Parts: sequence; structure tokens; C-alpha cells
Amino acid sequence: MTRKLEGKVALITGSGRGIGRSIALKLAAEGARIVVNDLDAEPAQETVESVRQAGGTAVACVGNVTAPDFAERFINTAVSEYQGIDIIINNAGYTWDGVIQKMTDEQWYAIIDCHLTAPFRILRAAQPVIRALSKADGEAGRRIVRKVVNISSVAGMFGNAGQGNYSSAKAGIVGLTQTLAKEWGRLNVTVNCIAYGFIKTRLTSTAAGESTAKIDGRDIKVGMNPDLLMMLERSIPLGRGGTTDEAAGAVYLMCIPESDYVSGQTLLCSGGLTGI
Ligand SMILES: NC(=O)c1ccc[n+]([C@@H]2O[C@H](COP(=O)([O-])OP(=O)(O)OC[C@H]3O[C@@H](n4cnc5c(N)ncnc54)[C@H](O)[C@@H]3O)[C@@H](O)[C@H]2O)c1
Repeated sequence: MTRKLEGKVALITGSGRGIGRSIALKLAAEGARIVVNDLDAEPAQETVESVRQAGGTAVACVGNVTAPDFAERFINTAVSEYQGIDIIINNAGYTWDGVIQKMTDEQWYAIIDCHLTAPFRILRAAQPVIRALSKADGEAGRRIVRKVVNISSVAGMFGNAGQGNYSSAKAGIVGLTQTLAKEWGRLNVTVNCIAYGFIKTRLTSTAAGESTAKIDGRDIKVGMNPDLLMMLERSIPLGRGGTTDEAAGAVYLMCIPESDYVSGQTLLCSGGLTGI
């Protein structure tokens, strides 16, 4: 059977764990060659190994997406390893919550930088490469549609108490998506967003309720309050949080040829949840 993404080159930020890891495995299983990124080298390498063990092709580009030189390095990795770019998934992220009166400038900018400025820089660095590829396609009479999928959240669509920084960044990425859909249509690039509801990962686990992750030299609390989580699950029409494979499925839909005429859209992947 022909695979839907045979030979495509896909770059995925934050793909050492959680949703990003599942996206990497899914796209690789459909034939894409993957540039795996994560802040942490070990999980990034683990994803690369898992892709390879399943018969796929992957390489790691470890680093913080907020580093000023990251975008160029990420794009250059794809070009030097695979001579092209077909799919970019801006997924890396974490939360650092606080009500507005307690939120520091540092907390605000850290989350805006990760969820909005980093995708902006990656897409800006990709533009000259994509423009050249698109021009070459046109001259050769080929019509190749490239794909950008940005990851948003129900917090960005509807707001969420205690997440002023995160919900602003996740709303901002919707605006960037809509704008780039207009700028890049002529390059045959579709640009869409997936907004997740509650997907079971380190970010939302109860087991990790009291644990922290080292991000940018800071100890950031990860996991959610179990009572809040139970309440949230009850409000989801499908009655449960999603798996990372289900989350990856929504991204996959935006990467396959069947979505070639869908652009500038935000698809909720939330088990039917339409507000929080
Ligand atoms: N899990 C959910 O319910 C949910 C809901 C809405 C949106 N999201 C979004 O989905 C995306 C993935 O989240 P997840 O739930 O899989 O979390 P996760 O913690 O399981 O995985 C995120 C990965 O991103 C990496 N990462 C974090 N900051 C980074 C940085 N600055 N540079 C490079 N890598 C970085 C982490 O090391 C981690 O491996 C995020 O953008 C998140 O905001 C998740």
C-alpha cells in the first residue's frame, strides 16, 4: 500500500515526549523523514531510535526553540540532511501558570517566547527555502503542497483562568496561522492550527502533580490537580482525555493530500469540548 507521506521531510519541535513524539512516529510510519527536536537530548534521541526501529528515518536537532540561533539551525538540519522541507509542526511547549496579579514579566515572556515567538522565527527562517523549492517545483511543472501545522489549545480559543500568558500565546499562534495562510498560499503551502483540549501527557498528568521539569534553567511545575482533572474529564462529551496517538491523528489530517485545499483553519481536537 502506498504511504501518504512517502519521502516528505517533516520538522517537529518538542517531539521527544508526549504529543510531538506521537506525531513523529505517525508521520514516519506514513513515510516521512523526520527532524526531531527537543530541549532534552535524551528523549529526542529516544524518538529518533523509535522511528528507526520501526523502519523509518529520523535525525535529532536538540535545543531550546527560544534560543536566538535555533530557527536557522533547525531549518539547516532539514536542508543538509534531507535537501528539503515539506511539513513543519510547531508543537514544543509547556505551561507556567499564575493569575494576572501574580504573573511576573519573566513568566509572561517565557511562555510567549516559547509558544509564539519561536514558531514565528522558525517559519521566518523557512520562508526563503520554501520559496526556492516552490519556484523550482513551478519551473519543473510539479505541484507540491507543503504543510505547516501550529499547535494551539482550547485555552487560546476560549481563555483559561490562571493562564493569561499561555492563552495569549495560543491565541496569537492562531493569528499567525491565518496570516501565513494568506502570505504562503501562492507558495502552495497550507497553514493550519490544531487546538487541543485535554490530552494525557506529562503536561496534564496527575502522577506528575508535584513534579517539576527543568526548562530554560528554571524548575517548572508539571501536571495537574487530580480534582480539576476529574472535573475536566467529566465535561468532555466523549467522557475522557485524548491519547497522544489521537492528538497526532488530527495533525496527520492536515498533512495528507486530502487536506490540500484546507488552509488558515483551526481544528479543535478536544473530544467534543467546545469551551472551558
Ligand atoms: N496535553 C494537553 O492537554 C495539551 C492541550 C493543549 C495544548 N497542548 C500543547 O501541545 C503541545 C505539546 O504538549 P504535550 O502535552 O505533548 O507536553 P509534553 O510535556 O508531554 O511534551 C512537550 C515536549 O516539548 C519539549 N519542550 C518544552 N519546551 C521546549 C522548548 N523551549 N524547546 C524545545 N522543546 C521544548 C519538552 O521537553 C517536551 O518533551 C504544547 O504546545 C502544548 O501547549 C497540550
